[in-house]
Amino acid sequence: MNPLRIAVLGAGLIGKRHIQTILAAPHAAELVAVADPVADASAFALGGAAWFDDEKDMLDRVRPEAVIIATPNALHAGHGKLCCERGIHFLVEKPVTATLDEAAELVGAVADSGVKTLVGHHRRYLAAIQDAKRRIDSGELGELVAASVVWATRKPDPYFDTKWRTQAGGGPLLINAIHEIDMLRHLCG
Ligand SMILES: NC(=O)c1ccc[n+]([C@@H]2O[C@H](COP(=O)([O-])OP(=O)(O)OC[C@H]3O[C@@H](n4cnc5c(N)ncnc54)[C@H](O)[C@@H]3O)[C@@H](O)[C@H]2O)c1
Repeated sequence: MNPLRIAVLGAGLIGKRHIQTILAAPHAAELVAVADPVADASAFALGGAAWFDDEKDMLDRVRPEAVIIATPNALHAGHGKLCCERGIHFLVEKPVTATLDEAAELVGAVADSGVKTLVGHHRRYLAAIQDAKRRIDSGELGELVAASVVWATRKPDPYFDTKWRTQAGGGPLLINAIHEIDMLRHLCG
């Protein structure tokens, strides 16, 4: 099987990790391009992948088979639609979009285009979570009637120096607590 030709949109905190992960798995994936209008390309080991300042330009010129969308939340819907329009499969980082309306629109575009998608809720793939889900689904724990959850986190102050994290579509619920919300939905329905 040929390695999947993947491009990354957004080379920030998590985009950088996606880039490293792709480069570390040459048997499965090839990093063909990265697009970011702000980040400094020279700070990255790209393994020969092309760097673009403009995401549309990159998608049209490189035509990747799949894209990882690691841009600020408010851009996910637009970037997902760019992929749908071009028939490119994509992984979109969590949260799917910044609003429910945008999510509904994107779900419609995905259905119309037939592309394959995945959301970056990686905790679903942890062994402990998969075990918990199997036990709950099998009825081993009896009927699930309620879940009680306490969530707290403290990010270092500089984390919020990045503007979009404090604006509409960002914030600790959509950026951080969304993982736990997804866990509740995944495990409890
Ligand atoms: N799954 C996880 O555990 C996890 C962890 C961290 C972040 N995330 C998600 O990943 C996304 C990015 O978060 P981050 O912390 O890496 O943000 P970040 O601000 O560090 O990085 C975002 C990058 O996107 C770039 N960008 C802005 N506009 C762009 C455009 N039009 N095209 C291409 N790139 C563009 C910015 O220049 C920046 O480099 C968010 O949706 C966040 O919720 C997920």
